[in-house]
Amino acid sequence: MCGIVGIIGTESVTQRILAALKRLEYRGYDSAGISTINKQKIARCRAAGKLSNLEQELNNGTLSGTIGIGHTRWATHGVPNVENAHPHVAGKVAVVHNGIIENYQQLKEEFADKGVLMQTETDTEVVAHLASQYLEAGMQPTEMMQALLSKIRGAFALLIMTADHPDVLLAARKSSPLAIAHGDGEMFLGSDALALAHLSRKISYLEDGDWAIITKDEAKIYNLENEVIDRPILITEASDKTPDKGKYRHYMEKEIHEQPEVIGYTLASYRNPTTGKITLPDFAFSPLKLPKLTIVAAGTSFYAGMVAKYWFEKLARIPTEVDIASEFRYRNPVLIENGASLFISQSGESLDTLMAQRYARDNGQNIISLVNVPESTIARESDTVLRTLAGPEISVASTKAFTTQLITLLTMAVHWGQLRGTLSDEMASSIMDNLTEMPSLLAAIFSDDLDWGSVSKELASSRDVIYLGRGINFPIALEGALKLKEVSYIHAEGYAAGEMKHGPIALLEKGVPVVMVAPHDEWFEKTSSNLKEALARGARVVLLSDDKGIEKLHEAATWVFRMPEVHQMLTPILYSLPVQLLAYHTARQKGTEIDQPRNLAKSV
Ligand code: M6R
Repeated sequence: MCGIVGIIGTESVTQRILAALKRLEYRGYDSAGISTINKQKIARCRAAGKLSNLEQELNNGTLSGTIGIGHTRWATHGVPNVENAHPHVAGKVAVVHNGIIENYQQLKEEFADKGVLMQTETDTEVVAHLASQYLEAGMQPTEMMQALLSKIRGAFALLIMTADHPDVLLAARKSSPLAIAHGDGEMFLGSDALALAHLSRKISYLEDGDWAIITKDEAKIYNLENEVIDRPILITEASDKTPDKGKYRHYMEKEIHEQPEVIGYTLASYRNPTTGKITLPDFAFSPLKLPKLTIVAAGTSFYAGMVAKYWFEKLARIPTEVDIASEFRYRNPVLIENGASLFISQSGESLDTLMAQRYARDNGQNIISLVNVPESTIARESDTVLRTLAGPEISVASTKAFTTQLITLLTMAVHWGQLRGTLSDEMASSIMDNLTEMPSLLAAIFSDDLDWGSVSKELASSRDVIYLGRGINFPIALEGALKLKEVSYIHAEGYAAGEMKHGPIALLEKGVPVVMVAPHDEWFEKTSSNLKEALARGARVVLLSDDKGIEKLHEAATWVFRMPEVHQMLTPILYSLPVQLLAYHTARQKGTEIDQPRNLAKSV
């Protein structure tokens, strides 16, 4: 959604807030701003667009002070311009906010009735006005926070400061994440530990409903009932290093190339490479008796869930349902008692996924999460946490998180299949042995030096691109189309190849590129027929296949990319790589902002 930062101490805060915001830019880059208190007055600097614009603005003026708040925005209410950029100020109060104030319209109207008009289109500005109104009425900061929090509804992480009390920072959290880092005579607040780890590694997390009064020496935290409460101080695992692209042009390119390595780490964390023994964390239920598995996730993580459905059903014979996080709790899903729900999220902070997880918990489910950020809210609210060891994923387009999710999910399905007696040891070994080769198979694709130039030029000038796959690779067609849309802004759709004839084939006309994810597997004959149907309508085919598949279909394809042969259960992992590379190279041809595509943010 958005990233927020606050610092209170004895030294100038502006540059340090900027540095922390840079570590949070993945949460949004529509606009940014910083406020400080200087000589008992609120000072503010804001800019539309990326943080680099704010950095330039800051160079043009002076913004000093030893207390300050900052914000990097992913626009929800109001266009991304300077006026709508946070911090929002009313009277002597400045506010930054991540989330949505759901009753802001009603509050706006109440202010309008009193002749107070908002200056922005945002939902946040009412918070600044409410805080200012309460303080002007004589409330102390603690009373103001209680009054404010009983008045607003929605999801929020809020940081508030007021010129009349320059020695306190006020914070509140509901649904949106907020962490406090404890320094020496200084305190830091931020949307996550990553934003703060370079300032202090001692982190405490506010729980839902918590709010806090923070001075330079301490954080006094209150719960929903306004009782003072202790939240433990942990030593964060988040890296304090500033991420860099190394020898690569973009984080996306770097992260694509990191896959052999991080897949190896992730696999080794679950499977002993010498004995082959799989060890998963403890579950609060027995996989032997599991009546049903519900998987919930968003975006690319959702597609990982779709692939996993094939694995859990085929290998472990567990009825598996996969849901889009933003739909799940609104459709009144039937959740079987003692069932398990698995939430997949790279960031561990996607709000829809978190809300779905809370819904499942309230409905008696055992909660498992699969995350890349182990201190995230989704992980902290789970009964069992599975981790991907992908390392920080900076590019908005997810790549290495996806393939490490797949590695983990397949390992889990194999293990459960063995436990449940639905998968022979022989088959399990054949899959797992082949899986251990995955890092070198992927590395070999890089060293094959495939020519992405001509096909990506062609895709870059296309209006539409269709991705087709069947069976276990249908989700890879969806993921390929999503990757292309995200980073190149080209309209792309993924379909189950057999579904084309039921409507989407009407989109095909001469020259439309069709990317076929077609390993020589049990679905291959059917996929080839679908390919011929597309060819008959003038489509130009990009064929992703292996030796056997290419032998049968190469004449039909305009571009052919040869993948190594693997066990068919593993093909979704392997074929993720060419669809990522296709999207990346096409975006390069188009010259888009690959790591920070328009309108997107890494965590929403
Ligand atoms: O952090 P999450 O895995 O929960 O994020 C879910 C989606 O927002 C994410 O996968 C998104 O679709 C990516 N930009 C895809 O590349």
